[in-house]
Amino acid sequence: MTDIFFYLYMIFSLLLCLALIIFIVTFGAPMFTGAPFAVSSRFKIDKMMAIIKKVTMGRKGLTAVDLGSGDGRITIALAKNDFIAHGIEVNPFLAWYSKIKIKAAGLKGKAFIHRENLWKSDFSNYNVVILFGVFYIMAKLEKKLLSELKPGSIVICNHFAFPIWKPIGQEGDVYIYQAK
Ligand SMILES: C[S@@+](CC[C@H](N)C(=O)[O-])C[C@H]1O[C@@H](n2cnc3c(N)ncnc32)[C@H](O)[C@@H]1O
Repeated sequence: MTDIFFYLYMIFSLLLCLALIIFIVTFGAPMFTGAPFAVSSRFKIDKMMAIIKKVTMGRKGLTAVDLGSGDGRITIALAKNDFIAHGIEVNPFLAWYSKIKIKAAGLKGKAFIHRENLWKSDFSNYNVVILFGVFYIMAKLEKKLLSELKPGSIVICNHFAFPIWKPIGQEGDVYIYQAK
């Protein structure tokens, strides 16, 4: 009998360790490939939505993407503001959770989450790009966006600015860029 409990205890401990390793790897690895998981506040999201609406002059049907979409809150806000909304997220747990949130919000068909590495994504079809990155990816991302975005496309950076690209506007720590 004690043997059974011992084996059950071992299996349980092993599964727990495995789950912990998977969790640490999925949430830890994005720190090296992009930015660690952190969320934009409601205040910040409302502010960015107001900026985007102003810059795009309320045009409907534009395609927008949140690079590193986390729990999907910005993708959802974009869809609620009449954008065809996409989120690119490398973390499978966050991508899965975002999809559940989108379904619960009744936004299926208006908001889409792609479980993808943003460095392998093509941004050429997006009119609006939002990102909450981190300082050490901004130079590489600037290069990628400038080479892929169509003229007129808008980029909104939350908190971290690009090193070379000059913004067309700034509101607090939100930077607005336009591709030429
Ligand atoms: C600072 S969070 C921003 C979350 C969300 N955009 C927001 O503002 O609430 C950055 C997100 O980027 C994701 N990420 C990091 N590296 C990535 C990569 N290479 N491709 C796609 N997503 C990535 C992280 O998993 C994390 O969820």
